[in-house]
Amino acid sequence: MQICPSKIRIRQEIARLRAASQAIGLVPTMGFLHEGHLQLMRRAAQHADAVVATIFVNPTQFGPNEDLSRYPRDLERDLDLLRAEGVAAVFTPSPEEMYLPGADAIVDVPSLSGILQGALRPGHFQGVATVVSKLFNITQPDVAVFGEKDYQQLALIRKMVRD
Ligand code: PAF
Repeated sequence: MQICPSKIRIRQEIARLRAASQAIGLVPTMGFLHEGHLQLMRRAAQHADAVVATIFVNPTQFGPNEDLSRYPRDLERDLDLLRAEGVAAVFTPSPEEMYLPGADAIVDVPSLSGILQGALRPGHFQGVATVVSKLFNITQPDVAVFGEKDYQQLALIRKMVRD
């Protein structure tokens, strides 16, 4: 499994997979993986030749009262779990790799980002849409797999892709 901390490295790895005619299945995560995530890897493997995972605790989806620094992290364990699933490559960027200083462009799906959980967590779904859009742009997957547990997130990502 290739561990790629930079955009350049993951793009190189994906170009290598594509050159071998592999369709790419992307599974974005924030790490601290559990069985649900591993099922998403297996689902991606059913729809693509090579599974690419991302592990990134995205600061822009945390509100001012939500403690980003306390989000659980265990990269070595996550990498072992992904290796055991046969994941081809994992993108593990730093916040600086994903957001250049002064970055303020956002992606929004206004019909879905401000209702339900979005009404209680202002900015959360803009953060999700922005980072998922970046991950899609960086990796250009053939398919991407998300859990259904956070149904509003799933609906928002589906609408972003459709639009
Ligand atoms: O569901 C998650 O883990 C995150 O919201 C996601 C989709 C990886 C974006 O940071």
